[in-house]
Amino acid sequence: MENRNETFRTESPEETQTFGEKLGKTLKQGDVIALIGDLGTGKTCLTQGIARGVGIAPDEVVSSPSYILINEYNARVPIYHIDLYRLENSEKIAELGLSEYVEGDGICIIEWAERMADALPDTCIKIHITLAASTSHGDDETRTSILQNPEDENIRHIEIQHPISR
Ligand SMILES: Nc1ncnc2c1ncn2[C@@H]1O[C@H](COP(=O)(O)OP(=O)(O)OP(=O)(O)O)[C@@H](O)[C@H]1O
Ligand SMILES: [Mg+2]
Repeated sequence: MENRNETFRTESPEETQTFGEKLGKTLKQGDVIALIGDLGTGKTCLTQGIARGVGIAPDEVVSSPSYILINEYNARVPIYHIDLYRLENSEKIAELGLSEYVEGDGICIIEWAERMADALPDTCIKIHITLAASTSHGDDETRTSILQNPEDENIRHIEIQHPISR
């Protein structure tokens, strides 16, 4: 499967959410969003925007599911927000039976998605978030960042890979 890649830059959490909201409006049932980025880069922040775009009620708060693993939200279609941060062991992840969600009736948004790389559908939309003032090196699995200029701490690079089916 080929990808169409686009990169964006945001300068505040609000801009990241607005970006997410626009993306969320384009999503449909069965879409899977794989979020990849270091701690605190903005995966949950982006998810909040996406959920708004998919149409969750304005009074619903999208929070980090780190301790719960999965949160479900009602919107135009159900949203399953999954966070694999606490699950480094890929066998444990396999045991969870996430395919039920990934192949399910809703939209799946997965933080730390690289931890289930093998179980991601090849139609999934991958989004890498990095601190802008950082050097990024490594491949999908090992990408790490070093902040070089603290003044740029609110700048994020968002790289989105849309699969193109043919
Ligand atoms: N441009 C930006 N986009 C998103 N978040 C930003 C931006 N600038 C600053 N921030 C801050 O970065 C933090 C991002 O936190 P968030 O919980 O979304 O990260 P995360 O990637 O989900 O972290 P974790 O790996 O712990 O789940 C927030 O405190 C947010 O206010
Ligand atoms: Mg998070």
